Amino acid sequence: MQQDVLLKMVDISKTFPGVKALDKVSLTVQKGTVHALMGENGAGKSTLMKCLFGIYAKDGGHIYLEGREINFKNSREALDNGVAMVHQELNQALKRSVMDNIWLGRYPKVGIAVNERKMYKDTMAIFDELAIDVDPHQIMSTMPVSKRQMVEIAKAVSYNSKIIVFDEPTSSLTEEEVEHLFRIINMLRDRGVGIIYISHKMAEIKRISDYITIMRDGQWVATEPAEKLEMADIIRLMVGRELTNQFPPKTNTPGEVYLEVEGITGMYNQLKNVSFQARRGEVLGLAGLDSSGRTETLESIFGIRTRKEGKITLGGKVCKNRNAGESIKNGFALITEERRATGIFGVLSVRDNTVISSLKRHKRFGIFLSEKSQRADTQQYIDAMRTKTPSQETKIRSLSGGNQQKVIIGRWLLTEPEVLLLDEPTRGIDVGAKYEIYQLILDLANKGKTVVMVSSEMPELLGVCDRIVVMSGGRVAGEVDAGTTSQEEIMTLAAKYV
Ligand SMILES: Nc1ncnc2c1ncn2[C@@H]1O[C@H](COP(=O)(O)OP(=O)(O)OP(=O)(O)O)[C@@H](O)[C@H]1O
Ligand SMILES: [Mg+2]
Repeated sequence: MQQDVLLKMVDISKTFPGVKALDKVSLTVQKGTVHALMGENGAGKSTLMKCLFGIYAKDGGHIYLEGREINFKNSREALDNGVAMVHQELNQALKRSVMDNIWLGRYPKVGIAVNERKMYKDTMAIFDELAIDVDPHQIMSTMPVSKRQMVEIAKAVSYNSKIIVFDEPTSSLTEEEVEHLFRIINMLRDRGVGIIYISHKMAEIKRISDYITIMRDGQWVATEPAEKLEMADIIRLMVGRELTNQFPPKTNTPGEVYLEVEGITGMYNQLKNVSFQARRGEVLGLAGLDSSGRTETLESIFGIRTRKEGKITLGGKVCKNRNAGESIKNGFALITEERRATGIFGVLSVRDNTVISSLKRHKRFGIFLSEKSQRADTQQYIDAMRTKTPSQETKIRSLSGGNQQKVIIGRWLLTEPEVLLLDEPTRGIDVGAKYEIYQLILDLANKGKTVVMVSSEMPELLGVCDRIVVMSGGRVAGEVDAGTTSQEEIMTLAAKYV
C-alpha cells in the first residue's frame, strides 16, 4: 500500500576513517507500524538512524518522508520536521531541569520572557498522557537513567513526531518499565506514528514489531513481516552462519569452597543476611526479579556499597573490601551493569581503555610501560570477542555501543581476578558475541577462578552456571543446581519474599 509509506531510505552509504559503516542500505517504514532493526554489534544500525536524524551527513543515497525528499543538517531540523530519536547513549543537559530538556530551544514566550507556567502545564499534559511519573522541575542529574529515558520519550512525543527511533531503549529499564514503554509504543502506533526499534533482545522484538529489517556488516540483508521470521532465522541472517549452539560446552569442574559470603546486610535495608559460597572453578549465578538485591550484593562484595554487617572470606582469609581499590588488591573484579556510563574514557584509544586497569602487568624494570605487551593483551581480547574496531589506536567513542562494552569486559578480565563479579555481562551484546563471552567466562572457571554472575536472562543462567542462588526481596530465597532445576522452580523462589 504505497499511500501508507511514511519513510523511505534508499541506498544510504556512509564511510568513517577505516570503516564502511553503511553500504547502500535501504529501509521503508509504513505508517502505524513498529519496524525492528537488527544486526550484530557494529552492523550499522545506529549509524543509519543518525544519518536520518541529521547527526551524520550521509555520503550517498536519498531519504523521503511522506514522499518529500529530506536531508536534515542537524537534529533540531529533524525534530521540527517530525523525526525524533531516543538515543542509545542519552545526551541530555544534566544540570538543567526536566522541562528545560524537553523545551530547550523552543521555550514558550510571553514577550521576551519564558512562560514558565505554560511550559510546566504543557509538560504535565504530556506526562499525564503517557503516565510518566516525573516532576518537571527536577534536575536531570538527580534522576536514574530509566526516568531520564522517559523524559527523552516525552520530548519525542512533544514534537508530534511522525517517526520515532528507539535505539536500545530497554537496556536500563526494569521489567515494569519495559511494560510501560511498550504501552506507550503501542499507543503511538495506533496514532499512526512509525516506530523504528533497535534491540538485541529477541523476545522483545518478537513481541513488539510488525516488520523486521536485518543488517550485517553495513549492508541490508532482509526485511520481512515479523511473524514470518523465527528466532533461528533472525540469528542466521544476523551472523551469516548457522549458530546451532547458544552456549559453549561446560568443561569446568568446581573444586573446593573458595569465596564465602556471610550475612551481608545493607545500610538501608536493601540486603538482609545474604550468605552463599562459591567454589574454585565454579560459575555461580544470581537470579531474581528486578530490585531483588542482586546488583547490591555484587556491589557490597566489591566494597562500593556500604555494608552494615557481613563477612567476606577468600580461601579462608578475611577480605575487608572497603572500597574498589582494596577489593582489586584482594583479587576481585566487578563488571557493572552500567559499564557504558561509568567505565569508558571516550577520548582514549581502544588500547588505553583495555589496559588501564592492568598497567602493572606492563611494567618492565620497575619503570617502563611495555607497549609491546599492551598491544598483545589488547589484541588477545579484540580477537576473543571479535571486537569490531579499525585499529587499537581508534578512540573508543567511535566504536559501536556493543563493541565499547566488549572493550570494558576485556579490561577487567586482564586484571586476572581470582573472583570475577559480573552484572548482566551480555546486555547490549549481539547473539554471536554472547557465545564468545560465555566462552571467556568458562575459560576463567577452567583456570580455577570463581565467577559470580547476575543475569535477568534465565536461559543464560541455566546455560552457563553450575549453581544458581535465587534472591528475593533482598534475601537469599534458595539455591538450585543449574543442571537439574527449571525456570519454574527459579521463578517460584524469586517470588518468595516479594
Ligand atoms: N563517529 C564514528 N567514527 C568512526 N567510526 C564510527 C563512528 N560511528 C560508528 N562508527 C563505526 O561504524 C560501524 C557501525 O557502527 P554502529 O554504531 O552503527 O553499529 P550498531 O549496529 O549500532 O552496533 P551496536 O549494536 O553495537 O550498537 C562500526 O564499525 C563503528 O565502529
Ligand atoms: Mg548502536
